[in-house]
Amino acid sequence: MKELQITTDLQIFESLNELPKTVKELMKVASEARLKAYAPYSNFSVGAAILLENGEIITGSNQENASFPSGLCAERTAIYYAGAKFPNSIIKTMAIIAGSQNHKTITPIPPCGACRQAIAEYEIKQAQPIELYFMGEEGEIIKSNSLANLLPLLFDKNVL
Ligand code: THU
Repeated sequence: MKELQITTDLQIFESLNELPKTVKELMKVASEARLKAYAPYSNFSVGAAILLENGEIITGSNQENASFPSGLCAERTAIYYAGAKFPNSIIKTMAIIAGSQNHKTITPIPPCGACRQAIAEYEIKQAQPIELYFMGEEGEIIKSNSLANLLPLLFDKNVL
């Protein structure tokens, strides 16, 4: 038996003011997108903004459904649209902001497992890392230089 230890590398920013200017702006766009979430069941709203290499910014918010599994997270709403509209443009950065409508969320909210898998697909497709920044409504922001940091041992096309 061998043991495998997996470590990851994340950066923590104390506040929006510590972020590079472009990322601070991208987070603001994500925050505006969050206002368009349709989340009557969970009362938990998420906004995502994606910066593409061509300068375009694509946004998404979570969209729920009375048939719960039919809803979609903000991150996948945004990244699938980016893939559909600009299939050849590199995805540089994704900013995510999330929180409950019932109480203030002050801890960074990471993307769920399904969203990590979806983002991983594009990172592999473009063979370039996607930077991720995520936060609650306020407070610290966590940065990951690559989706791979958030999803070790990922399932990818090489195994098919
Ligand atoms: N949600 C997202 O939009 N992104 C995530 O990464 C986690 C969860 C949404 C899905 C659902 O509408 C609500 O948050 C509560 O799970």
